[in-house]
Amino acid sequence: MCGIIGVVQKHGDVAPFLHQALKRLEYRGYDSVGVTTIAAGRLYIKKEKGKIEEVHRRLNLDDMPGSIGIGHTRWATHGIPSMLNAHPHFDCNNEISVVHNGVIDNFLELRAELKEKGHVLKSETDTEVIPHLIEDYMRDGLNLFQAVKETTKRIEGTYAIVVMSTREEVSRIVCTRDGNPLVIGRKEDVSYVSSDIPAFLPMTNDMILLLDGEIASLTADGVRIEKLADNSEVKREGIKISWTADQAQKSGYPHFMLKEIHEQPEAIKNTLRLRDDVIREAARIIHSSKRVIMLAMGTSGHAAQAGRHMFASIAGVLPVFELASDFPDTVYRTLTRNDCVIAITQSGETTDTISAVKYAKESGAKVVAITNVVGSSITRYADYTILTQAGPEIGVAATKTFMVQLAALALLALSLGELTGFVDASVIERKRKFLQRAPDIVSETISRNEELARRLAGQMYDKPSFLFLGRGVSIATAEEGALKLKEIAYNHAEAYSAGESKHGPIALVQEDYPVVFVAPNDETRSRIIGNIMEMKARGASIVSVISKDDKELASLSNHVFTIPEQIEAEFSTMIFVVPLQLFSYYMALKKGYDPDKPRNLAKSVTVL
Ligand code: F6R
Repeated sequence: MCGIIGVVQKHGDVAPFLHQALKRLEYRGYDSVGVTTIAAGRLYIKKEKGKIEEVHRRLNLDDMPGSIGIGHTRWATHGIPSMLNAHPHFDCNNEISVVHNGVIDNFLELRAELKEKGHVLKSETDTEVIPHLIEDYMRDGLNLFQAVKETTKRIEGTYAIVVMSTREEVSRIVCTRDGNPLVIGRKEDVSYVSSDIPAFLPMTNDMILLLDGEIASLTADGVRIEKLADNSEVKREGIKISWTADQAQKSGYPHFMLKEIHEQPEAIKNTLRLRDDVIREAARIIHSSKRVIMLAMGTSGHAAQAGRHMFASIAGVLPVFELASDFPDTVYRTLTRNDCVIAITQSGETTDTISAVKYAKESGAKVVAITNVVGSSITRYADYTILTQAGPEIGVAATKTFMVQLAALALLALSLGELTGFVDASVIERKRKFLQRAPDIVSETISRNEELARRLAGQMYDKPSFLFLGRGVSIATAEEGALKLKEIAYNHAEAYSAGESKHGPIALVQEDYPVVFVAPNDETRSRIIGNIMEMKARGASIVSVISKDDKELASLSNHVFTIPEQIEAEFSTMIFVVPLQLFSYYMALKKGYDPDKPRNLAKSVTVL
């Protein structure tokens, strides 16, 4: 949540870069935007409520002098979206400029204390206490680096902070973090800092990680990192990022979401190329544990639920699934050092998941992480990490990262199955072969359903409410289909086990009410037919996702999406979810919404 960028370079103005970088960060929040630069010892400020391009049209974000600057795109936590609440925030004299991602828990006490001392605070944000605290320390004679260090001793909560000041003799950005991401980028004569890699990806692939409890000073010549605890210098090797700048562009697609749906076959293919020993080691950790607990949120939670079925039927291991946000309340208390937690998070930064993992570590349990972002926070807490290979995902609604989570879980289930011997080696071999074909099947599923999804959205865009039903592993598929529709097309969409549907949700159904069935040709099929009949008897309009040869189910449905070939049951989510992703995308378009930037949502949720 909230995108942060800072840049300091030897020559030339940074404003046009900051503007472009903020556009690449907009998926982190888009209710307001702000930039400051420093030139000739003076702070230049432009900030306003609204999306970046709207603000740019009004204020011209490219036209600001100075070779050092910071910028921010906001997802509001404290205070409504407004010009005054937009970052950056300043001290009393407009000499110190701060952007922040996270939440300062003790801001009310600090505000009261600062006001008492005569500071004038203009916004409702928690962030604004930071420049005023720094101001006091600098007035006492500390330089910016020292003043930020002292400030971190006063603030409680989670933060990534990027600061600059006109009072520094050398052009310098100071940044620090605790609980929220910051990465540093380097190239000759330029240093970058951002909440996300894609912000500076077109300029450099050389990244240096900044960890919690560290502070960095960035000049055009280089970077110095220190540990806050003991002021010792940290010497850290840089990392070469394999993502390309092109991957973070729309490449001719109207939206990132559509591009990312189309990139799914490639993303799966790349993830299936993960080295065998990487997967085997994770499987070994799981195999040697007494219990397996899967933790995740949102779409990653749906991957976990599908993964649970894969583990059960291929390896005879039935993990407990728990939402990471609820884990500290119940399951955590039962954990022991003999257990293993599998934490799934594409961003690697979701605070609910990270904080659950910290609890898990306290009880001595082993943590295996599945994430898509190299160097993300989860990789530092986990004992072992599987890095999925989706490349950068910019659309706020997760699509290709969901696919690669499923692919990684499938590999893990197969490897675990080899260790447990729950099914015959020949069955594992058959499933492995199927998995290798999955990218092509996904690709064909996109081609045969995209136009249909567009047309169906044209017919159904005025339906306010949808029910999504499935059985077994298809409940996870139904859940993901409903979540996509909810988050980008703003429909009321509820997913249920089809078995459970007659115990309550069926009361919603009346003439023409849309019910979406995920109905692969697996052992659940005949019971699903029963559920379709029940819904039809009440006048429901049936949309089903079925195998292409399933004439019977087709004849029972008003609309069908078809899957080109017979699939291995446990892996069906990977294929059957695709038409539902496309349907949601075209529903959002038809209703006039931007699918890449759903209201109230942000790509990575870094508050509890
Ligand atoms: C849905 C979506 C969210 C995320 C959730 C967890 O499209 O994007 O529900 O899945 O916020 O995010 P990660 O996987 O980054 O932990």
